[in-house]
Amino acid sequence: MDWLDWEPVLKKEAASAMEKAPSVSEAHKLDHLERVWSRCLKLGMKLNADLNVLIAAAFLHDLGRHYNLDVHGEKSAMLARPILEKIKFPKEKIGKILDCIRFHDHSTPKSKRELIEAQILYDSDKLDAFGAAGVARWITYYYAKGEGIDWILGRLEKRYLGLHLKESKELAEESYRYAVSFFKKLREDLKAE
Ligand SMILES: [Fe+2]
Ligand SMILES: [Fe+2]
Repeated sequence: MDWLDWEPVLKKEAASAMEKAPSVSEAHKLDHLERVWSRCLKLGMKLNADLNVLIAAAFLHDLGRHYNLDVHGEKSAMLARPILEKIKFPKEKIGKILDCIRFHDHSTPKSKRELIEAQILYDSDKLDAFGAAGVARWITYYYAKGEGIDWILGRLEKRYLGLHLKESKELAEESYRYAVSFFKKLREDLKAE
């Protein structure tokens, strides 16, 4: 099977795993997985990475996020393994896929992401914090729940500085600036005159 053929299969598995999960995180549903995959595809083609590894890692990386876990790479990897075995994903790819998933938390040291595919997954995931879609996610899921604007700005900077690849930084530059300027303006506008 070509990587393209895995997309509907993986999407279906991700959706049905979410249905069984105890606490679905709205910020990590299929639309997030699709955006992460589309960046993985772009970067993966540019950098000659294994697209089969990337497509599985992209669609299964947040399975553990729906268990009330902020740090969820290990849990996602644990949940991904039986799915990959069930759908008969090429065995020789599974170890790499699980490493990409296991090490995608921002709290995991950068040095753990030795594989180019792990770096691409991490960057593609964190790029979802930027741009208008990123702003919407921060507002809906964090600001609305009481996190402050300074906290969000700090997180944005950390996400940007933590990117592995220069190609990702290039991809992120405009959307990172947009998100930062939005929150700075919001901070200013909310101040009493
Ligand atoms: Fe995640
Ligand atoms: Fe994610």
